[in-house]
Amino acid sequence: MSESNKSNKDILQAPRGMRDFYGTPYQQKSNFFEYARMIASSYGFTGIETPILEHTEIFLKGIGEGTDIIDKEMYNLTTLGGDRLTLKPEGTAPIMRAYIEHGMGALPQPQLFYYESPFFRHDKPQKGRYRQFYQFGLEIMGSRDPLYDALTIEVGYRIIQKTGKKVVVKINSLGTRDIRASYTETLVAFYREHQSKLAEGDQERIDTNPFRILDSKEPETVTVNQSAPTLIESLDKASRDHFTSVTDTLDGLDIPYEINPFLVRGMDYYEHTVFEYVTYDNENQESFALGGGGRYDGLAELIGHTTSIPSVGLGLGADRIIEISDDTFTTNPGDRIPMIVTENSLYVHASQLLQKCTNNKLFMYPLFTKIGKQMSRIEKEGYTRVCIIGEDEATNQQVTYKDLTTGEQRTLSYKELNNLS
Ligand code: HAM
Repeated sequence: MSESNKSNKDILQAPRGMRDFYGTPYQQKSNFFEYARMIASSYGFTGIETPILEHTEIFLKGIGEGTDIIDKEMYNLTTLGGDRLTLKPEGTAPIMRAYIEHGMGALPQPQLFYYESPFFRHDKPQKGRYRQFYQFGLEIMGSRDPLYDALTIEVGYRIIQKTGKKVVVKINSLGTRDIRASYTETLVAFYREHQSKLAEGDQERIDTNPFRILDSKEPETVTVNQSAPTLIESLDKASRDHFTSVTDTLDGLDIPYEINPFLVRGMDYYEHTVFEYVTYDNENQESFALGGGGRYDGLAELIGHTTSIPSVGLGLGADRIIEISDDTFTTNPGDRIPMIVTENSLYVHASQLLQKCTNNKLFMYPLFTKIGKQMSRIEKEGYTRVCIIGEDEATNQQVTYKDLTTGEQRTLSYKELNNLS
């Protein structure tokens, strides 16, 4: 094994773009996932979890060469046994692999999954962009029905709505693979004609991934794109009907959307509907995408399956959603009641009492120090009530109950403790 060239100072920090979660941020992440799971379950989704590592080829074939993820951002490794594996940069290709591996096509269709996971992309870290980030995702596998595109968008919207921010869905249709192929030729011809006016990085993409140029945020390219041919104008009737059906359903659901003909997304597996959720800050600047997704009817074939498995899904960026939502996902202590002891020797007594107690608002507050310090920390953490056990209380089979907002206190029998609301 080679020696690391990092100093002690370096190795005592988490790797760049990766974070430790504790205290409030930990709680917020956990509350966000709990909320998202609750909403997804209420629409009939069930959970799925795949490994953190997958065979590298799943991503190479599924996401496609020429995309940023494949060309620049993958964490690849070779195992001691010589396998080439990758820390998953996204969840859709792995879940499709699992669907195929377990013959889920034989189950009633479609299958509706939700998942939560860290993902890994070796991108340039900045606020809202991490190398290890978290997504809550949905995948509906085994149906072409456009109602499922709308359902996916709706469930994602309901989850993000919890932030209290105004959320807009940007939506586009990429049509079928064949339409895309002929449109790509038209687009490449257009970009060749305007090559010198494109931003430098985008010029290189004409041959590798012209679709990504449409999505570029570089000002020079944005100007050129204003006159670029759009895919939505070249759709065939079936694709147009599919798209109209999705937007009609969104109208019915009152979900605000904007058709954006330049939205192409960063993976090759998309067909038909693609979408992203954005919000706006006080200066009306658009946020980073809070989530995105689309239909990927051809992904199964891209990764080596013999038939297509029509599917649609999305990934919501947990880090970004929590960041823009102030304290929405923060837990406050609510009406939970900490129990403290005045002497360390009373800990066993208090713990035994709590085992028998049926009131689940009560919990052991394990801070074995002077009573004054315990009380001030409990108040600081926002609790409004406390139960105290000292020598006298233990002898008399009672506890002292204190309301921290009024300062009132009284003794309660164990029976009264069970009934405390
Ligand atoms: P994606 O657009 O690459 O799609 O990622 C989904 C969301 O994850 C983004 O909108 C963003 O909020 C968040 N995200 C992506 N990269 C980062 C990062 N470096 N730091 C923080 N947040 C990030 C997918 O991954 C697809 N698998 C979604 C999908 C599911 N399509 C169909 N099914």
